[in-house]
Parts: sequence; C-alpha cells; structure tokens
Amino acid sequence: MSPKYGDYQLEIYLNGLVGVTPTLPMDFAGWEERAEHALGPSLWSYVAGGAGDEYTQRANARVFERYGLIPRMMVGATERDLGVDLFGLTLPSPLFMAPVGVIGLCAPDGHGDLATARAAARTGVPMVASTLSVDPLEDVAAASGETPGFFQLYTPTDRDLAASLVHRAEAAGFKGIVVTLDTWITGWRPRDLSTSNFPQLRGHCLANYTSDPRFRELVGGGGPDDVVRTWAGVFGNPLTWDDLPWLRSLTDLPLVLKGICHPEDVRRAKDGGVDGIYCSNHGGRQANGGLTTLEALPAVVDAADGLPVLFDSGVRSGADAAKALALGATAVGIGRPYAYGAALAGEDGIVHVLRSLLAELDLTMAVDGYPTLADLTPDALVHRPAG
Ligand code: FNR
Repeated sequence: MSPKYGDYQLEIYLNGLVGVTPTLPMDFAGWEERAEHALGPSLWSYVAGGAGDEYTQRANARVFERYGLIPRMMVGATERDLGVDLFGLTLPSPLFMAPVGVIGLCAPDGHGDLATARAAARTGVPMVASTLSVDPLEDVAAASGETPGFFQLYTPTDRDLAASLVHRAEAAGFKGIVVTLDTWITGWRPRDLSTSNFPQLRGHCLANYTSDPRFRELVGGGGPDDVVRTWAGVFGNPLTWDDLPWLRSLTDLPLVLKGICHPEDVRRAKDGGVDGIYCSNHGGRQANGGLTTLEALPAVVDAADGLPVLFDSGVRSGADAAKALALGATAVGIGRPYAYGAALAGEDGIVHVLRSLLAELDLTMAVDGYPTLADLTPDALVHRPAG
C-alpha cells in the first residue's frame, strides 16, 4: 500500500487545534496568485505565459471540467494503492514533476533545480530534470536521494554534444531519457515578445552546457557572449523519424518521446523501439489553437497498446490527475503548479504542492470508491459535451 497521502489533511487540521494554520495556499488558484507577486514580472511572464492568446493553455486546464468521475458507494476504500511500476521502477504514486527549464530561477535562492530534486527526495515524486538548468545535472541527480529521476534532453544539432549530455545523465544516475520533440523552435509567445523576454538568451539556465566538455570545445574559450551565441546556434534540432535510430543508439536507459499527441506518431515511436510515450502539448506554450492533451490521450493510449504513457498539460488538482489516470495515463506530470510552489517557498513550497495534490488524489479515490489505480478506468468517467 502507498503512504497515506490523505493524512496531510489530518496534519493540517490537528495543527489548527494548537493555533497553527497553513502559511501556504491550499489550491492552484492560491499558488498562482502568490507566485505572481513572488516572481518578478519577466519570470512571471515566462512561467505563466503560453502561445498565442493562450487559448490552448486555458483549454488544457478547463477540459478536465468536462469529465466527471462517477462516485461509487459501499466500496470500503479504507486503504488505497497509488503505486505504479514504470520502466521497472516501483513508484509510490503516479505523479511526477515535468521538466521546467527555468525552475532554477523560480526558487527564492536561485537554485530551484536543487530544490526540486530535494522535494523529489522527500516525497518520492520523481523529477524530470530539464536540459536548461541553473545547476549541472550531476548536482541535480545527487540531490534526488533515493527517488529516481529522469533527464530531459533538448537535442542539440551537434550530435557529439547530444551524446555527451546523455552519457553524463547516465553516469549521474538518471533512470531514463525524455527527449522533447515539440520545442526545436520556440512557439509564438506574445507575453514574452512584448518585453523581448527570453531567459536563455540572457545567459540563464545554461549550466549543463557550460559544464560540458564538448560544448566548451564548441565555444572555443570565448566569453559569456560566445556561450550564448554558441548555445543559440546548437539548441534546436528539427528531428525527423530518420533520427530515431540514432537517438535510440545513444542509450540503453528507457527512452521516452515527449510531445506526442497523434496515434500515428505513437506507432512510429513504438516501431523505433522507444520505451514510453509522453503525451503533452508543453502546457500550451508552444502552439496555440490545438487540441488539449486530455482529449488526445485516449487515442494515444490506444495506439501505445500497453507501452507506458506519461501525460501532462493542464493538471491543476488531484481530481484532475484521477481523470487523466482513468483515461489511461500511466503517470501524470505537473508543470506550473510546482513551479509556483518553488516561487512561494523553494523546496518546502514544492513539497507542499506535491503533498496537496497527492492528498486530494488519494481522498478523491477514497470518497468516490476507487481504491486502486486499476479501478480508475474510462468507465469511471462521464464525458459532458462542450457548451
Ligand atoms: C516548461 N516545459 C518544458 N518542457 C520540457 O520538455 N523542457 C523544458 O525545459 C521545459 N521548460 C518549461 C518551462 C516552463 C516555465 C514551463 C511552464 C513549462 C513544459 C513542461 O514540461 C510541461 O509540459 C508543462 O508545463 C505541463 O503543463 P502545465 O502543468 O504547466 O499546464
């Protein structure tokens, strides 16, 4: 059985009896509101913003309202099992932290990657560490303790640099490589464009590059401007399916492709020997006017045909996570919620966000009578048409 995640509420209510009430908000709206004040305007714009008029970003979250979990009574769900097996790892819960490239900057001490890793160590919720970080991946892996972590690769155009990053991630102890496919070019983001705001071009979050021997070779001993110029020159690789055998050859670790929403792409990924599919539209940050990830999920799960499907985009609560799991996600990722937790109180803020989401997921399963993840199937949901 999993840890009793729902007991977080008992802890909070009991603290109240001795006059101690929570210092951090208890839901996404509260985290978001406080984060706007905690992060400066440019960081807030970068983290909270999305592509175009942000329709897809909003729809990602709102679409969950159109699915209802059907309560089942007299189930006696006193013990819940939220554990999942993923790539041979036994995880205590189905949540994970999606890669967030500027998480390093979000924490008050400017070391949010380490705060995230430490929160992973404390909660058992794995972190997918972004290529774009303030601290090098070796330090991030070391801070994760016993909780397995995954490394997210933004595949550079220089193949030796890609290989170097993957091999460093392997050596550091990461348990899988997540290759993000939807960001070889940046989507149109009016919020950031209106203030010419792009953190990496200002030299932020490039530690994995500056600590890399192959990248240093490419920079050739130049100064900070050369680092940024070299980075901009190698960052985005417009991969095609012809590149998949090469990506696969880079590692024996589980390989996951992130950004997949079409069943045909799932089949091609599967044919290419990947170990997992990551259904995501980057939280609506890359392309506007598209499908929400939750709507894409059932066809992706169907095409994956037993291959694990990781899911993110729009998850704001434990109840949302329950719905994604019912639609077939093996594990559910959160992005902005934990970034806001980091903004509010660093490691403790992230732990609070994760414990809150886990408690709500656990208590939703208890109240609605679904004691295990296997009980959460598409039949547990009613889909209300739009309008
Ligand atoms: C991201 N995301 C992201 N994805 C990725 O593969 N590598 C990265 O470096 C980043 N960086 C990043 C920065 C910020 C500020 C955000 C908000 C997101 C996307 C992320 O992994 C995930 O797909 C979304 O955040 C999920 O959507 P929600 O939960 O934010 O709605």
